[in-house]
Amino acid sequence: MHQEKIETIKSAIVLADAQNQDELEAYRLKFISKKSVVGELFAEIRNIPNEQKKEYGQLVNEVKQLADNKFQELIDKVNAASKKAKSMDLDLTLPATYIPVGGIHPLTATRQRIIEIFERIGFNLSEGPEIEDDWHNFTALNFPENHPAREMQDTFFIEKNPDIALRTHTSSVQVRVMESHKPPIRTLSPGRVYRNEAISARAHCIFHQVEGLYVDENVGFADLKNTLYHFAKEMFGRETKVRFRPSFFPFTEPSAEIDISCLLCGGKGCNVCKGSGWVEIGGSGMVDPNVLENCGIDSKKYTGFAFGMGIERIAMLKYQIKDLRLFTENDVRFLKQFRSLL
Ligand code: DAH
Repeated sequence: MHQEKIETIKSAIVLADAQNQDELEAYRLKFISKKSVVGELFAEIRNIPNEQKKEYGQLVNEVKQLADNKFQELIDKVNAASKKAKSMDLDLTLPATYIPVGGIHPLTATRQRIIEIFERIGFNLSEGPEIEDDWHNFTALNFPENHPAREMQDTFFIEKNPDIALRTHTSSVQVRVMESHKPPIRTLSPGRVYRNEAISARAHCIFHQVEGLYVDENVGFADLKNTLYHFAKEMFGRETKVRFRPSFFPFTEPSAEIDISCLLCGGKGCNVCKGSGWVEIGGSGMVDPNVLENCGIDSKKYTGFAFGMGIERIAMLKYQIKDLRLFTENDVRFLKQFRSLL
């Protein structure tokens, strides 16, 4: 009779399980506490005839041992599980750890944007050296022998060799491209240029330009105008107006300076445009036939237009930057403001 009851309790202990504190407590009440089934077996001892007490006692002690061992086992198991769950505890509402991110330099962003606009209308990219010879920087571009741009105060010459200088403009790349490619040519040449100038809010001895060149049969001034209209609207916005002012460059004839309507006042006149409503962004013109011939291109068959713009100037207008020196000072308080570009 007792035997049977004891076996049932034993197998219940063996099968018992607990996943959490509540279930552990339930186990404890059922098998460990005074009022548990095991506790009842102990209470039963006084009703057992004396000669069977010893044997019964042994059996009940075995059950108690079994129940205790199992209890410890279940405690360990539940503790291990809750420790594991804790280590995986993620609070998704906590603010994220701050990871400082860099940004694109405003000049890089501006150059990229210019390239993108011209690439979409069929211009490819070309490059030339920053250390240039007289031919590519001046002579092939039709600069007269005694042109002031050749003089020491404008140009950085290398080791007093009057033939080698830091290029003063990206127009030198025009020459290199025309010398090495047959028309049709449609190319954009961004790059760094150097001039012997005192550094101020408006001038620097190192700056960037982007040169454009289009040479083919029947290229006319209307193509130049339309190309730059397109550029100005893409770069500065649909409302932007463009104006061409007659000018002079040795390498273009006719030549024109390119103005856009002032972005700040929309043409009404302010201190950025000095009350005129217009700001200059570069020079342009029809490639002088002498230049085409200097580069081995038949000027009777081909015509072309060219333009050159300062990248700093465009960035200053676009982002309303008032001092050129900010581009090269690497002050993070300035650079941080462009973190969202690109
Ligand atoms: N090279 C000129 C400068 O540095 C800019 C320029 C003017 C480039 C007219 C051109 C052009 O291609 O056609 O001031």
